[in-house]
Amino acid sequence: MKFFIDTANLEQIKEAQDLGILDGVTTNPSLMAKEGIKGAKNVKQHYIDICNIVDGDVSAEVISTDYDGIIKEGLALAALHEQIVVKVPMIKDGIKAIRYFSSKGIRTNCTLIFSAGQALLAAKAGATYISPFLGRLDDVSTDGLNLIEEIRIIFDNYLFDTEILAASIRHPMHIINCAKIGADVMTGPLSAITALIKHPLTDIGLAQFLADHAKNK
Ligand code: E4P
Repeated sequence: MKFFIDTANLEQIKEAQDLGILDGVTTNPSLMAKEGIKGAKNVKQHYIDICNIVDGDVSAEVISTDYDGIIKEGLALAALHEQIVVKVPMIKDGIKAIRYFSSKGIRTNCTLIFSAGQALLAAKAGATYISPFLGRLDDVSTDGLNLIEEIRIIFDNYLFDTEILAASIRHPMHIINCAKIGADVMTGPLSAITALIKHPLTDIGLAQFLADHAKNK
């Protein structure tokens, strides 16, 4: 399972990269705004800065919602760095744009996936990744994991190359459950990733080992 971090915060990206387990980064306009990145020039430079930290794919989202605008923006984003994956919303013009990008060898991440039908369409259009939003479904009392399970079955039935990128991950159990189902990738905050490290019995055991070692000195 690939681990992506879902942030535009350079310090957090560096911390995850230093752990040695990071496979990529996802961003979105809200995450860019949270870091105070404004203006086309600064946004582009920020994507390049992210690419220079991480070894792996970096999703950069288009703002346009019409076909021509998505194509123009996507081409400009893809030209920034070879690690850039163009993130396109699940809308009619987005699907058409994903087909175009796919025909040009430009990789895409179809975002805001909330149903198996949407995932199927994006895969047929040639998306590199589809991003079902697990946490946001859970927020509205709908089983997000069940959606990922459905998409896994569909993609396996037809041997789609499109990777399931479980997004909107909120906590470590989301990551573990996605791994059990066979999501190809998960993207989540640094806190969910580092929470996987912790176990009270590890802390107790280590304290005991160190205390016993000290007795023998
Ligand atoms: C996915 O690519 C999105 O950036 C993200 O995972 C959304 O997560 P949220 O629901 O925590 O905002």
